[in-house]
Amino acid sequence: MKEVYSPLVMEHFLNPRNVGKIENANGIGEVGNATCGDIMRMYLRIDDNKITDAKFKTFGCGAAIATSSMATEMIKNKTVDEALALTNKAVAEALGGLPPVKVHCSILAEQAVRAALSDYYTRQGIDPEPIVGHVMKDVHEND
Ligand code: FES
Repeated sequence: MKEVYSPLVMEHFLNPRNVGKIENANGIGEVGNATCGDIMRMYLRIDDNKITDAKFKTFGCGAAIATSSMATEMIKNKTVDEALALTNKAVAEALGGLPPVKVHCSILAEQAVRAALSDYYTRQGIDPEPIVGHVMKDVHEND
């Protein structure tokens, strides 16, 4: 059988980074895809506008786990603005690419980060919409 995943995707799937929950998280986001049934929850700890910790729990396919893992690695120790600029394309590229049918899994990771940042602003009494924009709770909206 032809290998569909890049070695890096396999590596992050088999040894995912930052799995779990942050007890004192101040930004939590959950997104899903109604079509495949996968769910991703992202926990962020943000101090002085910097993401000091990022963890995730993903109930999903190998690509969803690998993209969650890579996304948390890419936003840790970055500013909120840098995290907001994270795209699913950048996550997929950092993993050496994804098969076309798995691109939606990387959108799940991007939207989970945005959902957590949206929650972070909401908790501070700031309307997140003008800053974070629309967050797709169900990435199927975009299929
Ligand atoms: Fe749906 Fe991967 S198949 S998130």
